[in-house]
Amino acid sequence: MQDSSILIIGKNAKTGWRVDRRLRELGYPTRAVSRSTSPAFDWEDQGTWGAAMAGTRAAYVTFHPDLAIPSAEQTVRNFVALAAELGLEHLVLLSGRGEAGARRAELVLEDSGLDWNVVRASWFMQNFSENFMIEGILNGELMLPAGDTVEPFVDVDDIAEVAVATLTRPELRNRVFEVTGPRAMTFAECVAAISHATGYPVKYTQIPLEAFIDGLRGEGAPEQLLWLMRELFSVVFDGRNSRPTAGVEEALGRPATDFSEYVRKVMATGAWNRSGIQRQA
Ligand SMILES: NC(=O)c1ccc[n+]([C@@H]2O[C@H](COP(=O)([O-])OP(=O)(O)OC[C@H]3O[C@@H](n4cnc5c(N)ncnc54)[C@H](OP(=O)(O)O)[C@@H]3O)[C@@H](O)[C@H]2O)c1
Repeated sequence: MQDSSILIIGKNAKTGWRVDRRLRELGYPTRAVSRSTSPAFDWEDQGTWGAAMAGTRAAYVTFHPDLAIPSAEQTVRNFVALAAELGLEHLVLLSGRGEAGARRAELVLEDSGLDWNVVRASWFMQNFSENFMIEGILNGELMLPAGDTVEPFVDVDDIAEVAVATLTRPELRNRVFEVTGPRAMTFAECVAAISHATGYPVKYTQIPLEAFIDGLRGEGAPEQLLWLMRELFSVVFDGRNSRPTAGVEEALGRPATDFSEYVRKVMATGAWNRSGIQRQA
């Protein structure tokens, strides 16, 4: 057992709760925080940070909503300065591939004088089952402006395992782990695989970026989210991230999880179950 806790920022975020669970299973005391915990941690209220961080020795950090947003670099800079002041020794940052803003935030960590790791991830497979895309899956049509760009979607269970490895194995410190799945797929291919497994029809429909943004605006999405979606689909999703990388294998000594295995796991949870749907013959 360690004598002080590992802080997890993003208690209910897709990687945060998984990192928390794995660390506790290994016997490490943790403190997982977000806006709804006590103590609370809110990226938009620096007054909450000190109480959440005090007494911890390392942190797994997920920024919200995304390191790509223009204010992220300064916010991370303030966070890292407070971490150093409060005596944290090691910070592990979840980052995104191909995002200029995320790279600037990574550099803040790398230049901080603290021990650091960056886990730089491709798009999460779990976006199809735990995020905004599940609605399209359940409705039978996923409409996005993603085109034919291929993306090596990564299983967030792999991300969590890599993050835990960096937090528990000192020899892995001060390195970037660029983590992706083992093969690049289009959204249409992912949707087809999900449709095949669930047995109900789901199709991918390409829509123009402006129509996608207008739709989100019509649903009342905040301006920051609209900016982020435009950035992700027009800049970050231009093909720059299509190549799979070996980060999972480098950290864990085993290959990254394939999309087919992810689909199998989700099927076992029932997350894609829907009632009243005519199953395909
Ligand atoms: N999704 C992807 O494909 C992808 C790919 C690469 C990198 N990333 C990175 O992953 C991160 C997002 O992770 P995620 O998708 O797992 O997150 P997520 O599931 O959207 O995170 C939601 C959590 O964030 C907390 N939260 C919301 N606003 C907050 C705030 N102002 N301060 C503190 N906590 C807040 C919420 O809990 P409370 O309501 O309790 O606060 C909730 O538990 C981003 O930094 C992004 O750059 C994502």
